Amino acid sequence: MSFAFAIDPRQSPADFYEALHDAAKSLLQGEHDRVANAANLSALIYSQVPDLNWAGFYLFDGSELVVGPFQGLPACVRIPLGKGVCGTAALERRVLRVDDVDQFPGHIACDSASRSELVIPLFKDEQLLGVLDLDSPKAARFGEADERGITRLAELWLEAC
Ligand code: SME
Repeated sequence: MSFAFAIDPRQSPADFYEALHDAAKSLLQGEHDRVANAANLSALIYSQVPDLNWAGFYLFDGSELVVGPFQGLPACVRIPLGKGVCGTAALERRVLRVDDVDQFPGHIACDSASRSELVIPLFKDEQLLGVLDLDSPKAARFGEADERGITRLAELWLEAC
C-alpha cells in the first residue's frame, strides 16, 4: 500500500472530501487499533487539508479528555467536559464550528496562531470516545462542506474501533 497521498485541494470541496474519504478508508482498512488509526487519520488530515495548524484527537479516559495522536504544536493535555471548544462539543454531543475562537467563551488557546476551529464529538453506542479537533490560523476556515467531510472521516474511525 502506498502512503503517498496527494489530494488536489483545488477540486470542489465535495470531490476533495470524497477523495480524502477514499484515502482514509484504505489507510484504516483492516486495522482496529484506535490509537494507530487516530495517528494515521491525524497525519492524513494534517497533510492534505489546507490551512491547518493542528489536527488530532482528544480521547475520553472516563472522566476527562486527554490529548491523543495529533499533528501540530504540543497541546494542553487534559480538557474537562464542558471546558473549551472540545469539552463543550463532547458534553453537548454536537459538532462545533467556531469562526472566531476569540469569541468563544472559555476557548483554550494551545497555539496562539489558531483563529478558527472545528470539533467533532466521537460517540459509539452512546459512549463518548473522544473528539476530533481541527484548528486553522485562518478565521472562518471551516464551512459546511468541511464539517460534512471531516464528520465522515470521524465515522470511519468510529466504525474501525
Ligand atoms: N482549542 C481547544 C483546545 C485544544 S487545541 O486547540 C489543540 C479547545 O478550546 O478546546
